[in-house]
Amino acid sequence: MSDPVGIGFIGAGEISILHAKAVKQIPGAKLVGLWNRSPERAKERAEWYGCKRYETPEELVADPEIGAVFVLTDLDTHLQYAKLAMEAGKHVLVEKPLTATVAEIEEMRATAERMGVVCVPGFNMIHEASIARARTLIQGGDVGKVVSCYVMYNIHHSEERASTLPGMVRHILAHNIYTMNYLVGRPTRVTAFKAMRHYEALDKEDLAMVLLELECGGIAHLCASFAADDLSADPWTFMVKVIGTAGTTRYTYQDWVEAKKGISHSRVYTAYQETITNEDRYFVDVCLKGGAPLQNLDDAMIVQKVIDGVEKSIAEGISVPIV
Ligand SMILES: NC(=O)c1ccc[n+]([C@@H]2O[C@H](COP(=O)([O-])OP(=O)(O)OC[C@H]3O[C@@H](n4cnc5c(N)ncnc54)[C@H](O)[C@@H]3O)[C@@H](O)[C@H]2O)c1
Repeated sequence: MSDPVGIGFIGAGEISILHAKAVKQIPGAKLVGLWNRSPERAKERAEWYGCKRYETPEELVADPEIGAVFVLTDLDTHLQYAKLAMEAGKHVLVEKPLTATVAEIEEMRATAERMGVVCVPGFNMIHEASIARARTLIQGGDVGKVVSCYVMYNIHHSEERASTLPGMVRHILAHNIYTMNYLVGRPTRVTAFKAMRHYEALDKEDLAMVLLELECGGIAHLCASFAADDLSADPWTFMVKVIGTAGTTRYTYQDWVEAKKGISHSRVYTAYQETITNEDRYFVDVCLKGGAPLQNLDDAMIVQKVIDGVEKSIAEGISVPIV
């Protein structure tokens, strides 16, 4: 058996807690160390995770024990740290949304190609057995022609947590978009709306809703909300549904709920951690061994083009083609 691949984290915020738990469960990987901008948090998290702490990101990427880097900082710094790691010869997994612009994704791809390393978008929600089964059914034509696709996210987050993150369009809709793209293919046109319903003191939307025409001829409806939990009998907490002319598929977080507080959620939605664990396992066991990611940088560009289209639609009150 070969040695486990050494993983380094650049950024040790909330999402690093889920990745640290994931890496512990993967026999082929070991968390070697982390760097975080604030040294206090770096120290605390390195103790929690039982790994090294580096003084600088340059020191982390120079460590020969590290074979791959997870970029877990804020969106605006993803390109900077992904390039730093790749130029040191490390493979990278970059949290969603990959970057702020399509041009930055192109730069990321050019760097990966030049350095001969793997660069994988951190699109965790699709790393689920039932999402894979749904895709097989849809692609095999077993649900007939796709009529509609719904990807609904309604999970309340505290104002304190929301204040450190971008609004719903940049922070959550990326999940809805890559999930839709994975299941029913790319969109051709988008119309979007946003609102602030809960955090009156924050200068960003806590709700975004989007309608998209799909290349396959169907229509998708996406919702991303931090404003409120859905407390109904059949909640759309994170719910994915595809209705076809000959069948339907559904996936929901509500099938696995633990009655204890999550890190940012009022409950533990078991599937959420599972998607991160599956994603990291796939990265280590498949992507680092030459296999294709479930979604690649071309898909990340589609996601970014849709986000750009959503922002244009909201700003100008128009329906925007996605080309
Ligand atoms: N896949 C998912 O389900 C999921 C969930 C939450 C967050 N995320 C993504 O993970 C990333 C981090 O989010 P988080 O929830 O951990 O946020 P967080 O606010 O808890 O942590 C962000 C970290 O980035 C660091 N950081 C911020 N600006 C920086 C800068 N200029 N230079 C260096 N470091 C900087 C901070 O020190 C902090 O440790 C984001 O890209 C976010 O979209 C993904």
